[in-house]
Amino acid sequence: MDINNAAWVDGPGENVRVGVHKLRQPGPGEVLIRNHAIAVNPFDCLQHLTGNFVDYWPFIFGYDLAGEVLLVGDGVSGFVSGQRVLGQALKQSLENTAFQEHTIVHADLVCPIPESMKYEEACVIPLALSTAAAGLYQEGYLALPLPRVEVERLDKTLLVWGGSSSVGSAVIQLAVASGFDVVTTASTRNFDHCRKLGAKVVFDYSSSSVINDLIRTLKSERKVIGAFSAVSLPSNIISTVAQVLSEVGGGFVATTKPPPEDLPINVSAKMVFAADYAGREGKKLFQDFLPTALRTGRYQALPRPHVVGHGLRSVQVGVEVLSKGVSAEKVVITI
Ligand SMILES: NC(=O)c1ccc[n+]([C@@H]2O[C@H](COP(=O)([O-])OP(=O)(O)OC[C@H]3O[C@@H](n4cnc5c(N)ncnc54)[C@H](OP(=O)(O)O)[C@@H]3O)[C@@H](O)[C@H]2O)c1
Repeated sequence: MDINNAAWVDGPGENVRVGVHKLRQPGPGEVLIRNHAIAVNPFDCLQHLTGNFVDYWPFIFGYDLAGEVLLVGDGVSGFVSGQRVLGQALKQSLENTAFQEHTIVHADLVCPIPESMKYEEACVIPLALSTAAAGLYQEGYLALPLPRVEVERLDKTLLVWGGSSSVGSAVIQLAVASGFDVVTTASTRNFDHCRKLGAKVVFDYSSSSVINDLIRTLKSERKVIGAFSAVSLPSNIISTVAQVLSEVGGGFVATTKPPPEDLPINVSAKMVFAADYAGREGKKLFQDFLPTALRTGRYQALPRPHVVGHGLRSVQVGVEVLSKGVSAEKVVITI
């Protein structure tokens, strides 16, 4: 097997150091992938810069990767050496993280990608997809019907706050594929982005009338089934989403951050955990839905990649760029 280099971080806030990381054969149910593109997520930045939720150092970060299959473990079918795939690492061990040349990924979280899709496009998908699915499909969350390539429309509407974020972009696409209409918010420059994903109506979240606009529009929809809050800021964002939902009949809000305790009486909310969902039910997405959805264009690799560099050293640049904030973009490094 090849040498494996990784983007090591020795402690909170330390710069990335490129160095060798051991490589092993994939075990039962695992796939060894040679990564060609990786994407940076806000949680990678938080962990890298603060050390929060990191149990030991040095560490290697990263959830999102795309590349080619090198080896498959016992019991894995449907993947062959050289196949182009995307995959989600769960950061369960250092071998199962994305910011290195090779990653061992559970086969349930690996998906073949079309020939026409570049690796830097494909790697924007995995974590956002499973975060969205964690809120949309789990019991105890919105519990929607699973997405389908042949969509059956249900005349029901979901409110998505933050349709241009990575998570919001995935929520829109999955909700539409599950048959729901989507009303969302974004800045005006990203209205087209949200419409391209399938949103029916988009409002500017910075407009002074956004709450009234949403309430008026949602009241005209046949049935509002709940909301997904897909951004982290401002800090009172979940209360705002809950206020809108409360005015149109109440319901459940899936959120990417912990909800406040003082919600309106007719609204409940719960934070999603992408890794929990992906670890248990990822196959329903990565294998049962996504391969055909990518081939047919039902699911698009958006937001677009912003390639900030080539090589593992550029992970440092990626963390710095994402920490400053992005707009309908995913920070990507090719390797
Ligand atoms: N719990 C989990 O398992 C989990 C998993 C993944 C992510 N997350 C969290 O989910 C959050 C989103 O992650 P991400 O990667 O999707 O973020 P992201 O893509 O980096 O978010 C940037 C986007 O947020 C939008 N935005 C910023 N403020 C907004 C507001 N007030 N209203 C509406 N949109 C707003 C921006 O829209 P415009 O450019 O249009 O202004 C921009 O496109 C992060 O806090 C992340 O840590 C949690």
